[in-house]
This record gives sequence, C-alpha cells and structure tokens, in this order.
Amino acid sequence: MPHDMLVKLYELEEKPELFRKLEGKGISVRRAMPADKGRVVQFVQNNFGDGWAHECSYTFTAHPVSCFIAVREKKVIGFACYDAVAKDVFGPTGVYEKYRRMGVGEALLRSCLLALKSAGYAYAVIGWVEDAAAFYEKTAGASVIENSFPGIYRNMIAAD
Ligand SMILES: CC(C)(COP(=O)(O)OP(=O)(O)OC[C@H]1O[C@@H](n2cnc3c(N)ncnc32)[C@H](O)[C@@H]1OP(=O)(O)O)[C@@H](O)C(=O)NCCC(=O)NCCS
Repeated sequence: MPHDMLVKLYELEEKPELFRKLEGKGISVRRAMPADKGRVVQFVQNNFGDGWAHECSYTFTAHPVSCFIAVREKKVIGFACYDAVAKDVFGPTGVYEKYRRMGVGEALLRSCLLALKSAGYAYAVIGWVEDAAAFYEKTAGASVIENSFPGIYRNMIAAD
C-alpha cells in the first residue's frame, strides 16, 4: 500500500558534487521556465500518464515555477515537482528509463527539497510513495508516515 514520507529539511545538505558529476555527463538540472511548459508536460504525459501531467502542469502557475527538470542535449530527460498537489508536498517525479540510476532522480529531488528549505519549511512531505521508498530513504533520509494512505488524495474522484 502507498504511504507518504517525511523529510527533515533542516538536515538536508546541498551536495554540489552530484550536480558536477551530472554536468560532466552533459546533464543539467535546473528550474523549469514558463516557456518550457508545453514540452515538459508533454514529456510527463508521454512517459508517466495523465494524472502526473495534470499535477506537473499546475506547477507552471507558480512563480517561480515549482518544477525542476533534467536536460540533456536540450531535451527533457527527467522532472520533479513540489507544491503541486499541496504546499510543501514533493512529487510527482520521474526520470526517462534510459537515464535512471545515474543520480538524476536524486539531483531533481534535492533541488526541490532545497527550494522548500529556502522557502522556510522545516519538513517536507513526499506524497504517495509506492516502489520508490528505498530511493527516498537513501537520498533524503525520508521516513514513512504511518497510516497516511490515501492521505491528501482521499477525496479524489474515481476514474470511469
Ligand atoms: C524513482 C526514480 C525517480 C529514481 O530516479 P533515478 O535517477 O534512477 O535515481 P538516482 O540514480 O538518483 O538514485 C539515487 C540512489 O537511489 C537508488 N535508487 C534509485 N531508485 C531506487 C529504487 N527504486 N529502489 C531503491 N533504490 C533506488 C540508486 O541506486 C542510487 O543509489 P547509489 O547512488 O548508491 O547508486 C526513477 O526510478 C523513476 O523515474 N521511477 C519511476 C517513477 C516513480 O516511481 N517516481 C516516484 C514516485 S513516488
């Protein structure tokens, strides 16, 4: 069963070597710009479906945009959102399959969490975690919030 997870932002460090390592492989991680919206949302829709595309689309209503992207050769290869489903909640996130296990997911996660930390939050919530719990534990020291299913999604209307 999915659950939410909690991250202690006050313990989160910047880890610049991770971003340098990715730069060395031609991958940059940066905040999305309003003009990127169509391409980013299309990437999310193509690779991760409608629900995540809707949530990602919402982050382009914020200023600054609350979505970070990983870019290689001017193409999106990964994305991560915060303040989408609710304030101080991380997600959705995803990396194009070919580029997984290289540190891209961690760099995207860290960028979003550091943005929340500098916005003044002490903790962040990672919403609706299923298979990726070990990834969040390892990269951000996240811990499971007990009895948090279906959490903030409890009132979502059902698909036909
Ligand atoms: C989860 C996801 C974003 C991780 O992206 P990634 O780029 O592969 O992650 P990273 O390479 O930055 O991984 C960082 C570390 O976590 C580990 N890790 C990554 N995914 C993991 C997983 N599913 N389970 C356990 N450990 C994982 C990596 O081995 C790595 O450790 P290392 O540095 O010792 O090698 C990616 O697998 C993905 O897009 N999954 C599908 C969408 C999804 O499930 N999103 C999360 C919804 S809550």
